[in-house]
Amino acid sequence: MNALLPVRPEPPVEPPLALLAELTHRCPLQCPYCANPLELERAAAELDTATWLRVLNEAAALGVLQVHFSGGEPTARKDLLELVRHAASCGLYSNLITSGVMLDAASLAALAEAGLDHVQLSFQDADAAQADRIGGYRNGHARKLVVARQIREAGLPLTANFVVHRQNLDRLPEMLALGQELGASRIEVAHVQYYGWGLVNRAALMPSRAQLERANAAVAQARADLRGRITIDYVVPDYYAARPKACMGGWARRIINITPAGLALPCHAAETLRGFQWPSVRTVPLGAVWRDDPGFARFRGTAWMPEPCRSCDQREVDWGGCRCQAFALTGDAAATDPACALSPSHFMMADAVAAAEAEAAAAEAPELVYRRIRTAALVK
Ligand code: SF4
Ligand code: FES
Repeated sequence: MNALLPVRPEPPVEPPLALLAELTHRCPLQCPYCANPLELERAAAELDTATWLRVLNEAAALGVLQVHFSGGEPTARKDLLELVRHAASCGLYSNLITSGVMLDAASLAALAEAGLDHVQLSFQDADAAQADRIGGYRNGHARKLVVARQIREAGLPLTANFVVHRQNLDRLPEMLALGQELGASRIEVAHVQYYGWGLVNRAALMPSRAQLERANAAVAQARADLRGRITIDYVVPDYYAARPKACMGGWARRIINITPAGLALPCHAAETLRGFQWPSVRTVPLGAVWRDDPGFARFRGTAWMPEPCRSCDQREVDWGGCRCQAFALTGDAAATDPACALSPSHFMMADAVAAAEAEAAAAEAPELVYRRIRTAALVK
């Protein structure tokens, strides 16, 4: 921290780099750490094709460079091919974030022909039985192995995404080996984020410190072995970090998120914050949302920050961390992210880690609460 840092005027609002298009919350899998909200949208509430096409036009006009088609499972949308084709015609780089289980060689060839640029395929584990248990989908892992090869045969670059937690982290070396075997150009090792479904299941999923240290060593080794061939993205989980991550690259700085029903958000979890009325792309053009919406402006830049962030030399590095995590843990979205060791609420992270250590030592893990529309009603 440096108390002498001058307070600089906020720079003009730059366009977002990426649009995260959450096409649907429908998904055949039921991962207990899903990034979707507890309150899942039903198919009837989803934006129609014409609105998505208009949103893609508006995104390109706003200066967006990339569109990430996500969900739920985006391949559950019958118009995915049309949306990909339109994104390409607008000059947008397109990435499909998928579980893969609904894809096959023909649909992948069609997506490649339509102009899809990249596929990010998620895995629940390297062990088939464990992966199917966590995903709540029988034979899903075997299906993903086939689809990974079909992605490469369609000429599409592949990122293999592994979501890690206490119940699979000891198999990280096998996951890194699997990513190589599948011909991934990038491997993403993503620790569960503990809000939404992840927070509901935190006691069952939080890794122990010893596990984390072994995982860090496995990643360091793989990075050394694969240097120049495969990029490995890896972020230490917030609960064990001394400083928070720059969530979304900073609030309303890099990414605009559209929910299946058309709400525009600065991050995928912003609906969990109390006191915000998020605009709908059904009625408000994307450019107006980005530039003028008060919710987007609320935590943009540094002027909103309380101490210790306000005078901290990291304030334009991590942008104060994650607003949704601050709200989920402290009830105040403007609080310093408790992941930061300088936060007065940092003890909450230490308490959760201590509880995780105790749970890890216990004979049986708490039962998982799977992501289902029915269970969402139960955990509210
Ligand atoms: Fe500094 Fe705030 Fe980031 Fe902590 S969260 S490192 S206090 S800017
Ligand atoms: Fe909303 Fe981090 S998930 S700001």
